[in-house]
Amino acid sequence: MPTLLNGPARIATGVVVAAAAACGGPGGGMGGGAGAAGTAKAGFDEAAWTPPREADIPADSLGASIRRGLYLLRFTPESLPQFATSGLRCTSCHQDDGLKPTAAPLAGSHARFPKYLSRSGAVIALPDRVNYCFTRSLAGNALPVGSREMTDILAYLAFISKDVPVGAKMAGAAGLIAMKDTLVGDTARGRAKFETTCVVCHGKDGGGQPPAIPPLWGPKSYSIGASMAREERAASFIWHNMPQTAPGTLTPQEAFDLAAYVNSHPRPDSPGKEGDWPMGGAPPDTPYNTKGHAAYRPPPSLFPRPRGSNAIVPVPPSVRSTRG
Ligand code: HEC
Ligand code: HEC
Repeated sequence: MPTLLNGPARIATGVVVAAAAACGGPGGGMGGGAGAAGTAKAGFDEAAWTPPREADIPADSLGASIRRGLYLLRFTPESLPQFATSGLRCTSCHQDDGLKPTAAPLAGSHARFPKYLSRSGAVIALPDRVNYCFTRSLAGNALPVGSREMTDILAYLAFISKDVPVGAKMAGAAGLIAMKDTLVGDTARGRAKFETTCVVCHGKDGGGQPPAIPPLWGPKSYSIGASMAREERAASFIWHNMPQTAPGTLTPQEAFDLAAYVNSHPRPDSPGKEGDWPMGGAPPDTPYNTKGHAAYRPPPSLFPRPRGSNAIVPVPPSVRSTRG
């Protein structure tokens, strides 16, 4: 009788697909560290690598899933109204279908997880990372990890990570690129600059022009628990990528002023945020209280989240017992 290991019923050993890389990095990100497979050796020439684009999606079943994933990123609230309840799409921040190096690129993300995130105090797999953006950046609800839609998003993330080796330290692998100098934004200057430079698209009330121009504050914007709610993270996004039609025209100080002004307004709450950075060490500009950290410039008020429990990615068992 064949045994499991030696008989004809033996399961073919196939290719083991690479997953997880070093990245994290010092940056202002939410705390990285090496991915599960350590740091890459030389060999990957990032300058010569071009991420696949929509036209490269294969015309087969996998391609259909990849394409659905891409469209979920581009048209998130339109496609998933129960989960993406704000005015933001994934591509509102992850510009150019997640390929733009200065806009928290998703290219290569499939090779960077599982990864330790100091904000969670735990090793996180890619679907949970996607759900941190659903619940915090989109101020929405967590997408079931086993759902077809989550699988489609993961298929797209894997597709735009093609040929990126485990451990490759790509530009932007730690999220938004850290600003060289940590400046302090001035909200009065930020307001003046906003009125001349940003209002035309994002509106005086910061509400944007749905569906293509996203809100910057108010009930339909990103939550207080999003990276973008931190002054330095927002300054990086704004300095590198805005105004959308003329990026590169702001000084770093103006970007900090604008970030301070944008983040001085009310936005959705993020339930459970006080449990972030459970080991301490929150970045200095975190706008809410966490262990050993006092809120930096918190907005005057927050909009409650009607479906609070769905707005939380469950804390991994490894840290659950450390929280009261
Ligand atoms: C409000 C802006 C914003 C929106 C909207 C947003 N994200 Fe993010 N996302 C970020 C930022 C910023 C980071 C990087 C963290 C940092 O820089 O601190 C990030 C990181 C990620 C990562 C981790 C990438 C890596 O390799 O470490 C994934 C995956 C991700 N986002 C997926 C998504 C998906 C899917 C959506 C839509 C459901 C989405 N994001 C919507 C801002 C956003
Ligand atoms: C020409 C129109 C336009 C102008 C002007 C503009 N934006 Fe944007 N902004 C966009 C669009 C569109 C997006 C979504 C990403 C994309 O499609 O490129 C965006 C995204 C953003 C985001 C990330 C998503 C979100 O909603 O939080 C921030 C922050 C932002 N803009 C801030 C600013 C600031 C600050 C200014 C002024 C310096 C500015 N923008 C000027 C069109 C504009």
